[in-house]
Amino acid sequence: MKVGFIGGGKMAEAILSDLIRSDMVLKSDVYVAEPDSARRDQIVELYGVNLFEKGEELMSSVDVVFLAVKPQVMDKVLKDISGLVQMDQIFISIAAGKTLANIEALLPASKVARVMPNLAASVSESMNVFCVGQDFTTTDKALVESLLKCFGKILELPEEKFDAVTAVSGSGPAFMAYLLQLVIDGAVALGLSENDATLLAKQTMLGTAKVLNDSDIAIPDFIDSVCSKGGTTEAGMEIMRSESLSKPIARTLQTAAARSVELRGSE
Ligand SMILES: NC(=O)c1ccc[n+]([C@@H]2O[C@H](COP(=O)([O-])OP(=O)(O)OC[C@H]3O[C@@H](n4cnc5c(N)ncnc54)[C@H](OP(=O)(O)O)[C@@H]3O)[C@@H](O)[C@H]2O)c1
Repeated sequence: MKVGFIGGGKMAEAILSDLIRSDMVLKSDVYVAEPDSARRDQIVELYGVNLFEKGEELMSSVDVVFLAVKPQVMDKVLKDISGLVQMDQIFISIAAGKTLANIEALLPASKVARVMPNLAASVSESMNVFCVGQDFTTTDKALVESLLKCFGKILELPEEKFDAVTAVSGSGPAFMAYLLQLVIDGAVALGLSENDATLLAKQTMLGTAKVLNDSDIAIPDFIDSVCSKGGTTEAGMEIMRSESLSKPIARTLQTAAARSVELRGSE
């Protein structure tokens, strides 16, 4: 399989490195179009893949094209390549807010999947929510799933869920990191050094995520299992519950999802 990337930024790099590392694609079969020559040099040096300046230049070489440019430049990119689409070529857009209909309108008669990944693709731990266009066959979908699995977990959802998905797992890494920073600030206020506080908080978040991920334990039961009667966790949880974090967090997600709707509406 030959895989192209239009846009050689952070997400493209994270995804292509995982595809190569997992032996899904040979590096000689990866093609990247990126306008910035310094960035092209960097990608060649790091991954030994094929580099071009423009998307048009890789279209005749690839079976699958990741559309990995910012949403603002997507329409121009699609117009530039629309006359070069080959039969059975598959397009996978990772651009926030660009709908299947937006893309299919500019790439008529092509097979398009839309994915919302996140920055954890850089450690193969992305959450990849996807939906596919009407021209997709079962085989096309299986191919897309196998590519997405190389850089994280996958979940197929109807496209109308994508504003919520964008808020929760697309923007989510920033929200989770902010919560982590608040814990670090609290730990420093208790007298720990910034370095020690950061180590403790990060390892605790990682360990918690792993336990919850690797077992079937329900989150409330997990919390109960850490709280012993009259102990430190119970005392802290009482504050967390009474000062309710739920409203600001719900509002954060609602605002991010509403922004996703706005961005879609402004196209
Ligand atoms: N970052 C995230 O956490 C995240 C999460 C989910 C989805 N996404 C989506 O992923 C997409 C890429 O995001 P990113 O963070 O990787 O952005 P990025 O680092 O800015 O990468 C985009 C790349 O596309 C290049 N580019 C611009 N115009 C181009 C053109 N006409 N042809 C080919 N390449 C072109 C840019 O080059 P120049 O810099 O020279 O313009 C840049 O290197 C976006 O649509 C975003 O919505 C990102």
